[in-house]
Amino acid sequence: MKCIVLPQYGFFSSALEKLVRRRFGDDKWEEICDLAGVSLGESCSFQVHHVYEEKDIHSLLQTATTVLGLDQPTILEMFGEQFLQWCVEYGQSETLRLLGRSLQDFLANLDSLHDHVSTIYPHMVAPSFRCSPGRWGDEFLLHYHSQRDGLEPLVIGLVKAVARQYFKMEVRIELMTKKGDEGSDHSVFTVQEVAHYEQSPTEEALRCSTPRVFPDQPLVTPEVFCKSFPFHVVFNRNMEILQCGSTLSVLLSGALQKDPNISSHFTIDHPLIKFTFVQYFLTLTPSLS
Ligand code: HEM
Repeated sequence: MKCIVLPQYGFFSSALEKLVRRRFGDDKWEEICDLAGVSLGESCSFQVHHVYEEKDIHSLLQTATTVLGLDQPTILEMFGEQFLQWCVEYGQSETLRLLGRSLQDFLANLDSLHDHVSTIYPHMVAPSFRCSPGRWGDEFLLHYHSQRDGLEPLVIGLVKAVARQYFKMEVRIELMTKKGDEGSDHSVFTVQEVAHYEQSPTEEALRCSTPRVFPDQPLVTPEVFCKSFPFHVVFNRNMEILQCGSTLSVLLSGALQKDPNISSHFTIDHPLIKFTFVQYFLTLTPSLS
C-alpha cells in the first residue's frame, strides 16, 4: 500500500484497535504496537479527537498482517465492518439510520454525513461517494473518491456491514476500476443485492406509515417559501436559475440579470460530479436512475 502523509483522527484508527483487541486479544494489540514502533502512551490506545500521522496507521496495519497471519485486504475488510460497529457504539446509530431508505440513498448521502462530522473533526480529510446506474437493473455503481490509496477493501467491509445492519440484506460488492487504473481519478465498485432476509426496519416503517397527502394548491406562498429557505435555488434543465431564497436573491441580484446560468455562480464541492442537469438529477435521486 502506498504510504501518503495525511493526518488522521484517532476516531478512525480506534476501530482498528477495537477490532484487534476484541477478536485477537489485548496482548496481540500491544505486540503489534511494539513491533510497529508506534507509541500510544500507557493505555496503548488511540484518542478519538487526537490527530495522528497516517504513516503510523500504515505501520500498524502492515505489522498486523504479520502478527495475525492475515493479508492486508482481509484485515481492511474486517476493519470496515468494525468501523461501522464503532460508529454505532459511539452513538451514531440514529444518524446513520436517517441517511436513506435504501442502500443507494444511504451511500449517496454519506458526503453530507462526513460534512456534518467535519464540524467536530475540522481537519479530517473525508472520502466522497456517489452512486450511478449499473449494467443490470439489480446492481448499481458506487464511486469512491479518496485522497488516500489502498482503502478499497475497507469500503467493501463497510458497505457489506451497512447493508446487513440497516437494510437486512447481503450484497456482492466488487472493485471494478481502481483509482489510478488507466488514469482514473477514483475507484468504482459494482454493488448487487444477493439475499434479503427480512424486511428492513426502514421499509417496515414506510409500509406502516400513513399515506402522504399532497394538497391541490400550495399552502405557502412563494414569498413565505423564499423567506423560510433563504439559501435555496431552483433551476431548470437549461441550468437557468428560476427562483432563489431571499438571502441568495440579495447576494445575486445584479449578477443574475446578466447571467442566469447556475454554473456561472456556483460550483459543486460534493458530490464530485460534472455540474450538468442530468448528472445532478441522477445524483440526487440515485434510486430513480
Ligand atoms: C456517523 C458515522 C461516521 C463517522 C462519525 C465517520 C467519521 C469518519 C472520520 C473521522 C474519518 C477519518 C477522516 C480523517 O481523519 O481524515 C472517516 C473516514 C472514512 N469514512 Fe467515515 N464516518 C462515519 C460513517 C461512515 C460510513 C457509514 C462509511 C461508508 C459506508 C464511511 C466511510 C469512510 C471511509 C472509507 C473513510 C476513510 C478515509 C478515506 O477513504 O479517505 N464512514 N470517517
